[in-house]
Amino acid sequence: MLSIIHNDHANMSLLLKLLRKKIQLLEKDEEIDYRLIKTIITYLRNYSDKYHHPMEDLIYDYYIKYRVVSDEVAMRLSQEHKAIKKVTVELDELLDMILLDAIVPKEQCIEKLRNFVELQSAHLAYEEQEILPLIKDSLSADDWSNLEKQWQHDEYKDPLFGENVSDQYRTLARRIKQV
Ligand SMILES: [Fe+2]
Ligand SMILES: [Fe+2]
Repeated sequence: MLSIIHNDHANMSLLLKLLRKKIQLLEKDEEIDYRLIKTIITYLRNYSDKYHHPMEDLIYDYYIKYRVVSDEVAMRLSQEHKAIKKVTVELDELLDMILLDAIVPKEQCIEKLRNFVELQSAHLAYEEQEILPLIKDSLSADDWSNLEKQWQHDEYKDPLFGENVSDQYRTLARRIKQV
């Protein structure tokens, strides 16, 4: 499970890197392809919100329940996924408006994108540098086998980073290779 999470994080970093480039272009007043950003957000909504975060939540809940964890850490872990989800939905709605040719001030778009990238990056760094090392040190092989048993999701075939890239994500997959 931990290796899946680490792998997801590496993939997400690539998407965040691509988004940062788009923000830079917007700041320089250059045109960007909003559909590509929409595709990234669609992927994150379908993958992170439905698979990656639930897997982490299962591990974190277990860790909080069976180990001594400070209130601050427990609180942060339970709130950040919710905050990310909210910001992701808001950004997705803004992108829909832009794609429907509604007039959206560019500054508003830059701010929402920046906010999203910062929140995601800070969360990812917190997990990779602080939380996951702690969990790795503290959970035993038995704990992990318990967690594996509790993880009831069907196997997920990643449509972007997996073996078979779905049509919807072809262009994005190509762009990621150039990052
Ligand atoms: Fe997370
Ligand atoms: Fe994560």
